[in-house]
Amino acid sequence: MKIHSLVFSPTGTSAKIARAIADGILQMKNDAGSFSDATRQPLRDSFGQEDLVVMAAPVYGGRMAPLAKERFRDVKGRHTPCVLVAVYGNRAFENALRDMADFARNRGFVPVAAAAFVGEHSYSSARTPVAAGRPDDSDLKAAGELGMAIARKVQVGSLSPVEPGSLRDEVSSEKSLRNFRNFVEEYQKQRKNAPVQYLPELNPALCNGCGTCAQACPTAAIGAKGQGLEAEKCIRCCACVKVCPSGARSFFTPFASVLAENFNVRKSPVWQIG
Ligand SMILES: Cc1cc2nc3c(=O)[nH]c(=O)nc-3n(C[C@H](O)[C@H](O)[C@H](O)COP(=O)(O)O)c2cc1C
Repeated sequence: MKIHSLVFSPTGTSAKIARAIADGILQMKNDAGSFSDATRQPLRDSFGQEDLVVMAAPVYGGRMAPLAKERFRDVKGRHTPCVLVAVYGNRAFENALRDMADFARNRGFVPVAAAAFVGEHSYSSARTPVAAGRPDDSDLKAAGELGMAIARKVQVGSLSPVEPGSLRDEVSSEKSLRNFRNFVEEYQKQRKNAPVQYLPELNPALCNGCGTCAQACPTAAIGAKGQGLEAEKCIRCCACVKVCPSGARSFFTPFASVLAENFNVRKSPVWQIG
């Protein structure tokens, strides 16, 4: 069995988890796998029954990130076993794994394991930290162990299909959930009356034109030297903010402080193996 990782990962956390899981599988198999990054371009790979695909993407609004679906749209399996990995910012992954499972099955894959791991929230900043620094050593160790457990099943030929939609979030406190719900309702009401478009900002005094942000942007929304931003292309993934070496980029969203206040209790990874 050949191991292939397919990732969509603007800020790199889904990629880190996918690598750790794949490394865990490969450690047991003593083999080299392939790694394909769909963050900036679509993938068109086809796989068969002798392959095992690890597919990882972030959770956006409780679902699989829409651009990940576009990037993976032309990937095809033929009864190909796959490990589905949703990476979320410590709030909730909600329907993301069910969504990923439907998406993968429609393309010929058979989910044989599924996992939800926590990654630093795209909106996390020094002032409003949300799952800052994750995945950390403990998350990566867990991802490696998951990989090894999958490899053991592969070795004895006992991997079987799973139902990823049945994996549940670690539930936050009633108070946090209520605060967040109230905030979202209020936010949506306000937006109806006065739509606001939040976009990443650039502090020209700090920008040295290195273009690292442009290279990191999954939708090529930023000019080559960091200048300009095409608003309609921006998916607010915050890749530009996280990679800027001089701190010239920032993204304000009122969600950041609400998330930081209400989802600061560490959630652990969850998974199932068939
Ligand atoms: C537009 C958007 C929506 C998000 N929605 C959620 C969400 O519903 N739940 C959650 O816990 N995290 C959410 N996040 C946080 C990301 O899932 C998290 O930061 C993830 O680790 C990013 O993955 P990446 O590093 O591979 O880009 C959202 C982030 C963005 C940009």
